[in-house]
Amino acid sequence: MMKWWCLTVMVVVVVVLKVEPAVSDPQINLINKGCSQYNATNLSDFFNNLNETFLDLRNQLSNGNTHFATAQQAMTSDPVYAMVQCRNYLSTADCLACFDAAVTQIRNCSAGNGARVIYDGCFLRYESNVFYDQTTLPGNSHICDNGTSSQPTAFNATVQGTAG
Ligand SMILES: *[C@@H]1O[C@H](CO)[C@@H](O)[C@H](O)[C@H]1NC(C)=O
Ligand SMILES: *[C@@H]1O[C@H](CO)[C@@H](O)[C@H](O)[C@H]1NC(C)=O
Ligand SMILES: *[C@@H]1O[C@H](CO)[C@@H](O)[C@H](O)[C@H]1NC(C)=O
Ligand SMILES: *[C@@H]1O[C@H](CO)[C@@H](O)[C@H](O)[C@H]1NC(C)=O
Ligand SMILES: *[C@@H]1O[C@H](CO)[C@@H](O)[C@H](O)[C@H]1NC(C)=O
Ligand SMILES: *[C@@H]1O[C@H](CO)[C@@H](O)[C@H](O)[C@H]1NC(C)=O
Repeated sequence: MMKWWCLTVMVVVVVVLKVEPAVSDPQINLINKGCSQYNATNLSDFFNNLNETFLDLRNQLSNGNTHFATAQQAMTSDPVYAMVQCRNYLSTADCLACFDAAVTQIRNCSAGNGARVIYDGCFLRYESNVFYDQTTLPGNSHICDNGTSSQPTAFNATVQGTAG
């Protein structure tokens, strides 16, 4: 019977070998962000819904080759509808890293009832109503912070949902 530490070493070696060929880059370069100027009304409902929704999105992204997900919690007041998309060449780990950064960033909107964050590698958005088909409405398109996107082509592609 193998010693436990021997097994541990083998597992580590296998993990290293498996991961080594891929270049990891979650592309967490902030391109744009925005918060709704309107706060949620029932904060306990709102943060419960927000947390559940982010958990749901993360579970979906964790599940193999998923790079796009929507989730909602709309049973109480202050519903939350959310959408995430990673570039489809990101590994699951990179996609999750980008998503986690986006969640941290978007939580800076505090009680804002809608918000979005766009990184090179992923975008995350939530609203208090269904917006999944509203990609052309104001506030939801090519808005750069003072036109300072360092990578306009990638930014446009991400915003338009045509990014790889
Ligand atoms: C929204 O809430 C934040 C903190 O939770 C507060 O600073 C801000 O003034 C509120 N905004 C409005 C429009 O009530
Ligand atoms: C928020 O909603 C919950 C039920 O979903 C309710 O129990 C609670 O009293 C509400 N809080 C406020 C401040 O309205
Ligand atoms: C939601 O998640 C944040 C961050 O993990 C946590 O600080 C907060 O207490 C949670 N809120 C609720 C209502 O679950
Ligand atoms: C979050 O907001 C605060 C105050 O608006 C700001 O000082 C801080 O830099 C922000 N953090 C991030 C990660 O944007
Ligand atoms: C946009 O950038 C220019 C130069 O960098 C600066 O002078 C101007 O105040 C900025 N405008 C806004 C709205 O941030
Ligand atoms: C990005 O989209 C904006 C708005 O449609 C356009 O003005 C700009 O030229 C585009 N930039 C690139 C690099 O495609």
